[in-house]
Amino acid sequence: MKSEIKEAIKKLKKEKDAVILAHNYQIEDIQDIADFVGDSYDLSKKAASSQADVIVFCGVYFMAETASILSPQKIVILPEKTAGCPLADTIEAEDVREIRTRHPEAAVVCYVNSSAAVKAECDACCTSSNAVKVVNSLPHKEVIFVPDKNLANYVSLNTIKEIIPWKGCCNTHHRVTIEDLWKVRELYPDTPILVHPECRPEVVEEADFVGGTTAIMNFVKKSCHEKFIIGTEMGMLYPLQKQNPDKEFFLLSQKLICPNMKKISLEQVYHSLKNLEPQIKVPPGIAEKALKAVNKMLEVS
Ligand code: 13P
Repeated sequence: MKSEIKEAIKKLKKEKDAVILAHNYQIEDIQDIADFVGDSYDLSKKAASSQADVIVFCGVYFMAETASILSPQKIVILPEKTAGCPLADTIEAEDVREIRTRHPEAAVVCYVNSSAAVKAECDACCTSSNAVKVVNSLPHKEVIFVPDKNLANYVSLNTIKEIIPWKGCCNTHHRVTIEDLWKVRELYPDTPILVHPECRPEVVEEADFVGGTTAIMNFVKKSCHEKFIIGTEMGMLYPLQKQNPDKEFFLLSQKLICPNMKKISLEQVYHSLKNLEPQIKVPPGIAEKALKAVNKMLEVS
């Protein structure tokens, strides 16, 4: 049954001239049928450079929106429209306008985990892989960083600029506490703990490595360790194991599961390709402004 639906997706993909992009946190079946699996940054670059007419984005809403901002002429599909990002929902365009009035000298950088309307209000966008680089590339001494306060904290540790954070956070990464880390450290004292910068500051401080999902992947590939504790969403264990069959991976906490990243199934990909919906389209006025912020990130990194 599974192989039949995978075959049917392959056929439809050709028929519709579609490419399937999937985030590292997607379920295994989705990662297996994707043309490309990666982090937010690599996925946005793929969306920008793809020659296909249709992009099926297996991720969450803001990722499909970013693909549409970068390729407005293409059909961008998010197979499950309710796959959102609670972190992105912590801020609206109006909030950015308001915080700007309080810090008129500051630039505003938004994490890619934000709506297109928020991106349209910002000077530059970033992902976890280039946040420090993007912030440092700006001439401003003060930078308002939205919406993730934990990533803002991580950036502030790696720049001389003054970072003014928004109050949002990723529920999934923020759930991991320092006590969780200590417990694992006690059980596996010699195993490196690798965490995403969306984790709490005290978790980031005590981890052995901090980076986005591609940075974690690269660290593992180069490392001579055989075992690793992974402090990011559990979906990441699959590509890590696939690309490093001789190494072993353990999740830092069983709380590291993002329900939104688990919403897309093979059946939904099949139906969305067949009917070319649900489509994600950013209104042109917002898309043009948001594109400036996204392009700033692509230029810098
Ligand atoms: P990466 O860009 O590191 O893949 O992270 C995406 C994300 O949404 C983390 O929660």
